[in-house]
Amino acid sequence: MTYECILTETRDKVGLITLNRPKAMNALNDQLMDELGLALKAFDKDENIHCIILTGSEKAFAAGADIAAMVGYSFMDAYKDDYITRNWETMRQIRKPVIAAVAGYALGGGCEVAMMCDFIIAAENAKFGQPEIKLGTLPGAGGTQRLPRAISKSKAMDMCLTARMMDVVEAERAGLVSRVVPLDKLMEEAFAAANVIASMSLPIIMMAKESVNRAYETTLSEGIQYERRLFQASFGTEDQKEGMQAFLEKRPAVFKNK
Ligand code: HXC
Repeated sequence: MTYECILTETRDKVGLITLNRPKAMNALNDQLMDELGLALKAFDKDENIHCIILTGSEKAFAAGADIAAMVGYSFMDAYKDDYITRNWETMRQIRKPVIAAVAGYALGGGCEVAMMCDFIIAAENAKFGQPEIKLGTLPGAGGTQRLPRAISKSKAMDMCLTARMMDVVEAERAGLVSRVVPLDKLMEEAFAAANVIASMSLPIIMMAKESVNRAYETTLSEGIQYERRLFQASFGTEDQKEGMQAFLEKRPAVFKNK
């Protein structure tokens, strides 16, 4: 498959997707989001791939939805024909882990896409923000919903209402990102994390992702029940036997992804 707005490559069991509209700070237009959806689904289906990394450039992960493309849209373009927002939820259907490796600006839709990933590793120059309010609109792909869950209502309101950007020190303190690394170490760290994940049992990794995500969708007691069922289900896999046996025999586990 040839893409125009993204680049894809694979390294061992890791699939890398790079947002690639450098002249527009990786602004997210419909074509890019269509391609991103296709690439994510293709890696999700590929049984040789166990983990996905999504990144942008050193200057910008993505500076948001493409303002030039959407400036003239009518309500009907946006609502009935689903311009701008189509395909933004594809990420939620991806069952394998997706790591966002963020350098530079992650603004508006860029911040929202980063938050849709399973966790964010940020370079020291990363900046996060929801500046839509300055454009006379508001976040449209989960910013008002995922930010309060990620960093508290107070900080989410601050960012959505004032449009201010958050640097990595604040973003790590607030819990938006899981790790901060020097810019020249970003991809090394992202691949190191992805390779660790890829060395585990794929079905168990998928169950763990599913279970953590459940925490956002349900009550605590339902979530704990859900987790317990998946934990119990893990005992039906060969990989649980191998993992525990390997520990007892003081050797590395060799998972068969079964
Ligand atoms: C279209 C964009 C863009 C965007 C940057 N560019 N962001 N084009 N859509 N979101 C373009 C600029 O027009 C410019 O093109 C080139 O990229 C370089 O940008 P500059 O502004 O010259 O660079 P700089 O001064 O370094 O400033 C970087 C920036 C700024 C801080 C990131 O570009 C900026 O504020 N961008 C807009 C951020 C934003 O408002 N995002 C939210 C979008 S709404 P030319 O041709 O002049 O070189 C949104 C809604 C999501 O995301 C809804 C989801 C469904």
